[in-house]
Amino acid sequence: MDLKDHIRAIPDFPKPGILFYDISTLLRHADAWQVAMGRMARAVRPHHPDLVAGIESRGFLMAAPLALKLGCGFVMLRKPGKLPGGTIGLDYALEYGSDRIEIQADAVQKGQRVVVVDDLLATGGTMAAAIRLLQNIGAEVPAAATLIELSFLRGRERIGVPVESLVSYD
Ligand code: PRP
Ligand code: MG
Repeated sequence: MDLKDHIRAIPDFPKPGILFYDISTLLRHADAWQVAMGRMARAVRPHHPDLVAGIESRGFLMAAPLALKLGCGFVMLRKPGKLPGGTIGLDYALEYGSDRIEIQADAVQKGQRVVVVDDLLATGGTMAAAIRLLQNIGAEVPAAATLIELSFLRGRERIGVPVESLVSYD
């Protein structure tokens, strides 16, 4: 199955000039979602994760089912102010402005192998920040995984670990 057949490209969203790759058509197609998660599981399993970390919000849609398939725990990397208890965050730069992601301080034990998962790798800024945050709290990050990679943006070059992607647009 070509997963691209189930990903819809929507021009000028969220801003003029941006071509938005919409995964909602894939998610609502039972076979396509099943195939996508099966392929992601096959790509990630050799990295032997103890935990799968998902990046809010669309990353959760990939990371939680992946963790179930791999028999791993799942941890959330969230937008600021969403997680209860002690948290550790990391601010990172965007093209215009900055953003922040947070994790619960006790989410990962030192040395645990954590694979970070998102739906899309564009500039790589979000994924790079997620990996840095996990490493800051003592995780080992053997790999990252994404459904879609916008390879023309060369985000992969900013990620210091292997990136498993299922679909790539140049
Ligand atoms: C999108 C996408 C990735 C990120 C990729 O998330 O889901 O998380 O941008 O961009 P980057 O590689 O340039 O950092 P978005 O912030 O739109 O939010 P959402 O997942 O909550 O919809
Ligand atoms: Mg996102």
